[in-house]
Amino acid sequence: EAVQAEIDTLPLTTDDEAEAYRVRFLGRKAGVITDLFSKIGTVPPEERRAVGQRLNALKQAAQARLDAATEALAGDTEAGATDLDLTLPGRVPAPVERGSLHVLTQTLEDIQAIFQSFGFAVARGPEIEDDWHNFSALNFPPDHPARDMQDTFFLEPPPPEGRGVLLRTHTSPVQVRVMERQKPPIRVIAPGRVFRNEAISYKSYCLFHQVEGLVVDEGVSFADLKAMLTAFAKALFGASDGPAREAKMRFRPSFFPFTEPSAEVDVWWADESLPGGGRWMEILGSGMVDPNVLENVGVDSERYTGYAFGMGVERMAMLRHGIDDIRLLYENDVRFLKQF
Ligand code: PHE
Repeated sequence: EAVQAEIDTLPLTTDDEAEAYRVRFLGRKAGVITDLFSKIGTVPPEERRAVGQRLNALKQAAQARLDAATEALAGDTEAGATDLDLTLPGRVPAPVERGSLHVLTQTLEDIQAIFQSFGFAVARGPEIEDDWHNFSALNFPPDHPARDMQDTFFLEPPPPEGRGVLLRTHTSPVQVRVMERQKPPIRVIAPGRVFRNEAISYKSYCLFHQVEGLVVDEGVSFADLKAMLTAFAKALFGASDGPAREAKMRFRPSFFPFTEPSAEVDVWWADESLPGGGRWMEILGSGMVDPNVLENVGVDSERYTGYAFGMGVERMAMLRHGIDDIRLLYENDVRFLKQF
């Protein structure tokens, strides 16, 4: 009776339990029922038949329960027999968010890559500048109103009261630094941050990025400048799906103390909701390097000519991606940043 109770109730829910059950009741060597069969000789002869039948019944009962359990266990491992969906993505308690490059950094890197493919080297200069590099060497006469074109953050008062240490208002001082240490032929870009104390609006911020360009060699002409900037705009905007993807641009006569003649370049911001289907957005200043600048840094202006340009990186990013307010680039709202 005790063996029958065990046969009916021992747990049989895992493969290990099933194997232990088989060994215990049906094993040829240490099985409980085999053991009982071997003791049948001790039973009085007239009872042997009944005891033998009882043991056979036990053996069948154990075999039947084991078969049923084995079948159930096998079924469990078949696909679809369980609620475990192996195709679901794993559950991570705190999902790890991947960072990405800021849209401005991406734009700056793309601009650099385009100019490097055109054969330009990369130069850098300090953000804290002196009056000579930011203004005087660039042909801004002292007290000339042209200095007011760029509202300057002074760290020390301007001459004659002080030395005029300031935050550079443009990357053009890097032109001067490159020409002071390198003789033509020169073909460089100079990316970097610049600072202006002007009213903040959707298109102007107190700091922004420029990429300066400078090419000085024998026989460099305005046509070279125009061709270079046109090829650049096609490469940068043509590959985008933003409002400037047609890379439609115009050269407009302008004035800078350090270039003559000078031109500003506007790019067309296509927008069907605007009257006229869009508007022009200024992206850069440019021109032929003024001979006075070449002479200021000891370059022979009879022998060499050059062109220069300085472009706003924020405006490029805005035109490429349809960003309509420059301040978004400095707020670091992740809902904005994640889009790029
Ligand atoms: N430095 C000028 C600016 O910031 C741009 C410029 C660069 C113009 C080089 C001409 C040549 O407005």
